[in-house]
Amino acid sequence: MALSFATDIRPLFRDTPDVDSMKDYGLDLSSYAEVKARAQDIYATLEDGSMPCDGAWPEDRVARFKRWIDEGMAP
Ligand code: HEM
Repeated sequence: MALSFATDIRPLFRDTPDVDSMKDYGLDLSSYAEVKARAQDIYATLEDGSMPCDGAWPEDRVARFKRWIDEGMAP
């Protein structure tokens, strides 16, 4: 079964500081539409470890985000 934003991706983003902080920079990580629209940019920051700024995600989380993109970004 394909990964979904609601079940598999949204829980990876902490309400604080991820969602709160990034709203100040024009990206609502709690919004399916916004995360889908900017998925490649988001993936790039996760992959190079620059986001979240308090510590890179472990590889399996980054891989999960990538898999969600590759599977078509289901809601
Ligand atoms: C398009 C993708 C993203 C861009 C361009 C971006 C850009 C930025 C910028 C410019 C800042 C403020 C300066 C800095 O602290 O480096 C920031 C802060 C932050 N971002 Fe992102 N970000 C992206 C994605 C994400 C994602 C996916 C997460 C979480 C998984 C995240 C978590 C945070 C956090 C926690 C801060 C903390 C700021 C603080 O300590 O005040 N960001 N981001």
